[in-house]
Amino acid sequence: MKLSPFFQKGFCLWFTGLSGAGKSTVSSAVHHTLREHGIANVELLDGDEVRTHLTHGLGFSRADRDTNVLRIGWVCQLLVKHSVPVMTAAISPYRETRNEVRTMVERVGGKGAFIEVFVNASVEECARRDVKGLYAKAMAGEIPQFTGVSDPYEPPEQAEIELNTASESEEESVVKVVRYLDEHAYISGVED
Ligand SMILES: Nc1ncnc2c1ncn2[C@@H]1O[C@H](COP(=O)(O)OP(=O)(O)O)[C@@H](O)[C@H]1O
Ligand SMILES: [Mg+2]
Repeated sequence: MKLSPFFQKGFCLWFTGLSGAGKSTVSSAVHHTLREHGIANVELLDGDEVRTHLTHGLGFSRADRDTNVLRIGWVCQLLVKHSVPVMTAAISPYRETRNEVRTMVERVGGKGAFIEVFVNASVEECARRDVKGLYAKAMAGEIPQFTGVSDPYEPPEQAEIELNTASESEEESVVKVVRYLDEHAYISGVED
């Protein structure tokens, strides 16, 4: 019997986008799909959960947002160093800070290990969804430093993957991400 073991390379799938754009929805669905296909050790760091543990106590100033993102990034590079695939779903609004994480992850995982996923939905679309009721408050001036309303969001200039969640279904977004991983040999044997 000939076995052809597939060596799992570490990678970091970094979802970025406005609140309500679909980061948690799509990343958890991708996480589920990968686990179903035998990648048992893939980790998902969701922004909301991270802020109650790893980065508890940080606020939403630029400095605190950067610390939040860099701490998540530091955990990502640790995991990637040990060939563990990791996914993150945090707004991560600043381009330069995301690029710092890219450098950290690529230093241990090699070029291509950091995969930026731009979850693109307009402020208007996210406000229409208003999943958590936060846009209504932010637009009424009740939440200072709310990304997209009273705080900046810098979209990626060259994201490896762009999801347009206003025009594509959740399923289509998931397929895009999984297909990218397959095409770049980060996973193998995933069927449509
Ligand atoms: N194509 C899509 N992909 C992902 N989410 C979508 C899509 N279309 C509509 N939605 C909805 O948008 C919302 C996104 O919320 P969530 O994933 O919590 O956003 P985020 O984590 O980016 O703040 C969910 O209510 C989801 O059902
Ligand atoms: Mg979320």
